Amino acid sequence: MDTAAPAAFQALEGSGFGAFIRQTVWMYPIANVTHVVAVVVFAGAVAVIDARLMGAFAGTAVSEVLHGGRRVAVAAFGAIALSGAILFSAEASHLALNPIFQTKVLLIGLALLNVLVFELAFAPRLREFPPRMPLPATARASAFVSLATWLAVAACGRGIAYF
Ligand code: HEM
Repeated sequence: MDTAAPAAFQALEGSGFGAFIRQTVWMYPIANVTHVVAVVVFAGAVAVIDARLMGAFAGTAVSEVLHGGRRVAVAAFGAIALSGAILFSAEASHLALNPIFQTKVLLIGLALLNVLVFELAFAPRLREFPPRMPLPATARASAFVSLATWLAVAACGRGIAYF
């Protein structure tokens, strides 16, 4: 327990739930493996969407790619958030003060903001775009920001263990 952490994080780590995650042999490994597998699925869906927005698979209808990829990405993100919350509960006080974890949370916020702007401002206009028609620069820029931020989130996720 890191006593320099805000009280809420110490309380979470010291709670029965936090103790359960740490003390059961299988709970932490299952949450960890679920987190990593869901990250792989999420990254695959995001990569397909972003590659299409940046001009790959130009013969496909962009709206179809968005529709299919979005469903996989949202489901995988749900599993990531749930398993991530379980991992966090086990060592909340230490993680709350970890600079790489703090950077990861900030980057997740930025990446989700980018998704929100894309979904509200750009995605509705892409519905009419037929295959092979070049997409607006804004859509390509959004895809680039998406790939860059999600990859940085993944790098931070792995990097937490070393700080
Ligand atoms: C949505 C909220 C998320 C929470 C609360 C969360 C939380 C965590 C926690 C607590 C760890 C364990 C850190 C440690 O003690 O070493 C972790 C690991 C990791 N996270 Fe997340 N995470 C989230 C989202 C993501 C996302 C979106 C990605 C990737 C795009 C990601 C990628 C990773 C990776 C690669 C690891 C390292 C796994 C390992 O090597 O065992 N996380 N995460």
